[in-house]
Amino acid sequence: MIAAIVVAAGSGARLGAVLPKALVPIAGAPLVSWSLRALDRCAQVAVIVVAAPAEHQGAMRDAVPAGQATPVIVVAGGSSRQRSVAAAMAVLPADVTIVLVHDAARPLLTAAVCDGVIAALDGVDGAIAASPVTDTLKRGDSDGVVVATVDRADLWAAQTPQGFHTSALRAAFAAAGDRELDTATDCAAMVEARGGRVRLVPTATPNLKVTVPADLAIVGALLRPE
Ligand code: CTP
Ligand code: MG
Repeated sequence: MIAAIVVAAGSGARLGAVLPKALVPIAGAPLVSWSLRALDRCAQVAVIVVAAPAEHQGAMRDAVPAGQATPVIVVAGGSSRQRSVAAAMAVLPADVTIVLVHDAARPLLTAAVCDGVIAALDGVDGAIAASPVTDTLKRGDSDGVVVATVDRADLWAAQTPQGFHTSALRAAFAAAGDRELDTATDCAAMVEARGGRVRLVPTATPNLKVTVPADLAIVGALLRPE
């Protein structure tokens, strides 16, 4: 069985809204609802677990689009992204062999992107949506002065969804200490740290993350209300 975890428990400090970021309206619906809709359309995904801010679990249930067929389980998230993933993994049904982890903050998710990540899992431990870096990269010092230009030829920006064979993700979490659970910014890094092989899956469609207020207008313009 394939499950999806949607991490939606962050406060969205950089967005600075009154509501937690996942519940902020964009193109007429809560941010998280767009990802839930895409996952519902991905026929391979049989169950969705959403990690919500502990005090907003009811609102998170209300944000599930009406008529959605795939069952959604809401759990309280943790104090970091990876602790929220761990809280969601704790309630996964035992027969889940593949798990997709997706940020609620990326509402441009499509079923095709999910299918692509799942298909890429053959022969590797993980597969992640990603884009080749297109900007020229500079390393700067504490004064904001360039120290070096970094060769971008083999550099990718990691996105979500990130898919894993459940056994590989569970093993990485079982081996992780507090520091890693507090600071890792994606699941792939935890699997890579144990020698896991993670495949890069180029995203053919925009897969932007809503982080700062200006992102709401940009991403909102790309979302198509129904
Ligand atoms: N996330 C989470 N639990 C946390 C922190 C983050 O589930 N304790 C989720 C967020 O809800 C988001 C994803 O991880 O969907 C990516 O994190 P980010 O974009 O950094 O969101 P926030 O942490 O909410 O934003 P900020 O860092 O600006 O506070
Ligand atoms: Mg954050």
